[in-house]
Amino acid sequence: MTDKKKIVILTHGGAGSDPAHADGTAIAGQIGMMGLQTGEPILDAACNAVTILEDDSRFNAGVGSHRRDDGSVQMDASCMDSSGAFGAVATLEGFRNPVQVARIVSQSEYRVLAGAGAAKFASNQDCKTVALDEINNTGKDFSTTDTVGCVVRDGDKFAAALSTGGTDQAHSGRVGDVPLIGCGLYTGPEGAVATTGDGEAIAMQMTAFRAYQLIEQGMDPKTIVPKAIGWFKQPTAFGIIVVSKIGFAGGANQSMAWTASEIEIPL
Ligand code: GLY
Repeated sequence: MTDKKKIVILTHGGAGSDPAHADGTAIAGQIGMMGLQTGEPILDAACNAVTILEDDSRFNAGVGSHRRDDGSVQMDASCMDSSGAFGAVATLEGFRNPVQVARIVSQSEYRVLAGAGAAKFASNQDCKTVALDEINNTGKDFSTTDTVGCVVRDGDKFAAALSTGGTDQAHSGRVGDVPLIGCGLYTGPEGAVATTGDGEAIAMQMTAFRAYQLIEQGMDPKTIVPKAIGWFKQPTAFGIIVVSKIGFAGGANQSMAWTASEIEIPL
């Protein structure tokens, strides 16, 4: 009998996103899944799935990012895998795919880069730029949507990635949960967690790390998701996706486009 391994990928379009936009999260998941099937490193697969969401202007990340109160667009992104790699950018301006910049940061001597320094780093790495007038220019109001994200399992490895334009009309320079390790996301040898919603509330509860601790305690993701949602009182927006060796689950206290797929392939 051939030994097999499980590949699982979950993608979400953010708390407040329209479930009718799950075609976008499904395509992102397919891109991640294809990468994993062709042997792509798990962190790259998670970041490439989030890149598809950043390129979809219906979601609050990349070209769909919200504006700050001064009209600027400042994006946060992060990624982490179960080998211990972590990278993040905060208040990055002028780059189309902040999650790819975060991925490159994870391979550098730094863990988090912010502002003009992050932009200089991205520029030195030839990351794809974006002009302000290319961002959120559909004329549609997606101002209540939040961070996009992805969690992945590849056999006994796990990864997570997030990207966001932050809260609509927030003060410039504001940083949410996304680049803060253990707040927006966390990954370890037992699983991966990615959250979305009110960044201040998520950060104050160290939400992703606490959800990861429940994975470590052997709790099923299907139990973790409603428990974590219960940590946030309405109208605080919150959503979460979780994958572990036991299973996977996702949910939010409001509408959220999200999709999951699972396959088994020969080792
Ligand atoms: N959850 C994203 C943010 O609040 O910035």
